[in-house]
Amino acid sequence: MKKVSVGVKGVDALLFGGFPERKSILVTGNCGTGKTIFASHFMNYGGGVYISFEQDKEKLFGDLKEIGIDFKKLEDQDKLRVLGGNLVGIQKLKEKRRASAEDIIEEILEVVEEIGAKRVVIDSINLFLMLFDTDKERRNVLYELNYALQQVGCTIVMTCELPEHSQKLSWFGFEEFIADGVVVLKRDYKKDLNLNKRYLEIVKLRGSDFKEGNFPLRITNEGLKVYMNDPNDEFFYNEVKENGKS
Ligand SMILES: Nc1ncnc2c1ncn2[C@@H]1O[C@H](COP(=O)(O)OP(=O)(O)OP(=O)(O)O)[C@@H](O)[C@H]1O
Ligand SMILES: [Mg+2]
Repeated sequence: MKKVSVGVKGVDALLFGGFPERKSILVTGNCGTGKTIFASHFMNYGGGVYISFEQDKEKLFGDLKEIGIDFKKLEDQDKLRVLGGNLVGIQKLKEKRRASAEDIIEEILEVVEEIGAKRVVIDSINLFLMLFDTDKERRNVLYELNYALQQVGCTIVMTCELPEHSQKLSWFGFEEFIADGVVVLKRDYKKDLNLNKRYLEIVKLRGSDFKEGNFPLRITNEGLKVYMNDPNDEFFYNEVKENGKS
């Protein structure tokens, strides 16, 4: 099976080479756990189509510049297309044009084919699915969108928001079953150190082996990086203490 680099430092090693090509991966976690940054590293590695419902493009580009990701440059080179925008605006447009799920999938595919994209990001999938009215329709559109993108050769990263203290792996409760892989980003507040320790865990990946467990991760002005160190490793602990942030 062909693998594609995730583009996030340390993660390919946990996956023995990267994500399997043409699979869809759900990157799920509480607020501020690094989902957007993870997805942006993935996009930055090979270009593609980035669908965002979170924040406007200028703000996203500005935030990413802080961690050394230049989406403007990628866009100017026609290696990146950014779609999406404000959810309410898209909802209104959808109703005005009486656009169906098929129409929306078709529009995404057109852009993918225009630039020959092999990577697609949807940030976040739960906001995208809110465009549809019933769980039946949402489940169907998620399945159809993944299927259509995989058919044209794309590997997909979809982020998913998890409310704080939720025991679930996704917003609606079915996204993790449709995705081929699930990566969870976690933040754990250590009271004794007065800092957050962050971890990445791969929960499932159809058709591929991966390293199990919680791996420490850090976000700095160089972006997101995952460590092989044991989370209980004294060295890692001290390093985190010195730098003041995990
Ligand atoms: N330059 C930086 N240096 C250090 N940490 C940073 C930097 N930029 C971002 N971060 C950390 O990354 C977090 C934001 O990451 P990101 O936007 O990817 O999270 P998210 O999971 O997408 O959040 P949300 O659910 O709110 O969309 C910030 O809260 C901050 O802790
Ligand atoms: Mg985000």
